[in-house]
Amino acid sequence: MLANKRILLIIGGGIAAYKSLELIRRLQDQGAEVVPVLTKAGEEFVTPLSVSALAGQAVHRDLFDLTAEAEMGHIQLSRSADLLVVAPATADLMAKMANGHANDLASTLLLATDTPVLLAPAMNVRMWQHPATQRNLATLLADGVACVGPDEGGMACGEFGPGRLAEPEAIVAAITAKLSDGPLKGRRIVVTSGPTHEPIDPVRYIANRSSGAQGTALARALRDLGAEVVFITGPASVAPPEGVEVVPVETAQQMADAVFAALPADAGVFAAAVADWRVTSASDRKLKKSKDGLPVMEFAENPDILKTVAHLDEGRPGLVVGFAAETNDVVDNATAKRLRKGCDWIVANDVSPATGIMGGSENAVILISDAGAESWPRMDKTAVARQLAERIAAALTDKG
Ligand code: CTP
Repeated sequence: MLANKRILLIIGGGIAAYKSLELIRRLQDQGAEVVPVLTKAGEEFVTPLSVSALAGQAVHRDLFDLTAEAEMGHIQLSRSADLLVVAPATADLMAKMANGHANDLASTLLLATDTPVLLAPAMNVRMWQHPATQRNLATLLADGVACVGPDEGGMACGEFGPGRLAEPEAIVAAITAKLSDGPLKGRRIVVTSGPTHEPIDPVRYIANRSSGAQGTALARALRDLGAEVVFITGPASVAPPEGVEVVPVETAQQMADAVFAALPADAGVFAAAVADWRVTSASDRKLKKSKDGLPVMEFAENPDILKTVAHLDEGRPGLVVGFAAETNDVVDNATAKRLRKGCDWIVANDVSPATGIMGGSENAVILISDAGAESWPRMDKTAVARQLAERIAAALTDKG
């Protein structure tokens, strides 16, 4: 996926620097050439020898290196790549970048470049949360620098919170998304996924059996074709894809708000199993058993996100795709649903328990459009996602 791409990888000084070695491998597996740069602090964590051995070329370390300058000046070095990746991006490197310092090779390359830059920050949680770092991050984002991570979790220093370097897989996905020449490059696609939870009281909720697997696979497939994906997900049981903008929500109302905040988009794909009703009598205290009998719940209808988006006069995505989970008369019900909802396509599937589709790894879908109903053979949800993503790409290309 990254064939013929050259990535200048700047390895900053942090304990997470060891993960940059795996990152080099993974980038090479995708066909990329990795030109490594190691900061002085980085050398304290990984050796120049291991970096250059893995990268298969000399590692750049010094600003004032006569041999390196004679072979390729640092200005040229900073511009010869398709992307500059800083992993780990330390608090210090981010501060230098945000303030335009150029007092070592890494900061000079970052200042001299006209190539896109991707940061993978990693630092202690307090350092990450410090207003100075957050200020620097805001400056860098405003300057057009992209960022992947940091992740949240236990850290080498024993503390817990955001600050861990994103996993190499996530960094590769972010790089691929930035460099992809796929047919969806430059297209923004909103995807909803997973179930929604409608609270009854602070500890109980109404949910459904959706795992989020199909929506997640679809977001990944769209990303792989180069789309900028906004992935709005209810509490799913599968992890969201890397390299997409993840917006976690809980209720249908929150999902609706997130979708409208994410528009405009070239396409909207509504794979979520949205709860049709919410409990209007939801209690802010845990309901107790009582002598007075069973609790009585009142319901109200949730906003129909797909239908509302499909009927927008202004700002309707060029392609609106819904899903139909049916247990009987699948084609008839889904065909009627497409017209009722006003969407361009409906991806229908039979979710009756015997099929094992809801919560399972396979899907057998029928694509319903203006052209009629097209049955696809039963296949892995990833394969369904890929095929659907390709159809979406073709439809958007046709629309121009
Ligand atoms: N959908 C939505 N908002 C809702 C309900 C559903 O966006 N409040 C979307 C789903 O994401 C899916 C499509 O509508 O793309 C159909 O969902 P489904 O549950 O099959 O249909 P319902 O609208 O709930 O209709 P019914 O209950 O009559 O089958």
